[in-house]
Amino acid sequence: MAPDSQLDLFGSAGIDPVVPAEAVDFDAIPLSASVPIPPETYDSIAAITAHCDRCQRCGLSEGRTHAVVGRGNPSAPIAIIGEAPGQNEDEQGLPFVGRSGELLEKILASVNLSTDREIYICNVAKCRPPGNRNPTPAEIAACKPFFLEQIRLVDPQIVLLAGATAVKATIADKRGITKIRGQWFEWEGRLCMPIFHPAYLLRNPSREKGKPKWLMWQDIQAIRRKLDELQAPSV
Ligand code: URA
Repeated sequence: MAPDSQLDLFGSAGIDPVVPAEAVDFDAIPLSASVPIPPETYDSIAAITAHCDRCQRCGLSEGRTHAVVGRGNPSAPIAIIGEAPGQNEDEQGLPFVGRSGELLEKILASVNLSTDREIYICNVAKCRPPGNRNPTPAEIAACKPFFLEQIRLVDPQIVLLAGATAVKATIADKRGITKIRGQWFEWEGRLCMPIFHPAYLLRNPSREKGKPKWLMWQDIQAIRRKLDELQAPSV
C-alpha cells in the first residue's frame, strides 16, 4: 500500500471506521500498518500503551528505547499533541521531558495550567525518528490511530496542536503554522488550536511584541480564557 493511501485509511478529516471492530485481528495490530485500528479498539490508555510497547507498524520501532505514549491527567480538559519523541523522551518513555518540555511546562504554569490537572500530552509519533527528523507521512499514518484513540479516551474539550506535524496529522491545513496559530478550529468535534512548537520558541527566544514567544503568550492566555468559559457554570 502506498504511503498516501495509508494516510487516507484513517482520513485526515476524522475517524473513518473502514473496518468494523469485530473484524480486527488484535494480535496483528502491532505488526503492520496495513492492519487498521478502528475507533473504539481500546478501552484504556493502558491498553494503547501495551500495543505501542510492542508495535512494529513502521520502521521507527527498530530504533526505539521506549515507545512514548503520553503523560498528564488522563481525564484532562486540554490535550496537547506534539510531534515525536526526542532523545530524552525515548530514554525516559515520557513525552516532553527535555528542554522543549521544560519550556512547555513554564508556558502552561504562566496561566496556572498543569499536567497534574488540566493537561494531557501525547505525540503524533510514538517512537523517536532517527536524528530527530520529522516523521514521514507513512510513519504518521501508521501511528495516527493511537493518538486518535488517546484523544477519544481522554475526551478533552480543547486540543492544542503543537507545531506543523501535529497540524498535518489532524486538521491538515496547508497554511503555515505562523498563519494559523492562535485560531480556533474544529477537529473530531472538538475545539482545537494550532500553537507554536516549544522547540521553535527555543530557537526564537525574543519576547518582543509580535515575535513567536510574545504570540505564544497571547495564545496561552486565549486558551486559558476559553477553558474558563467552557467550565463556567451555566446560569
Ligand atoms: N518534541 C515533541 O514534539 N514531542 C516530545 O515529546 C518532545 C519533543
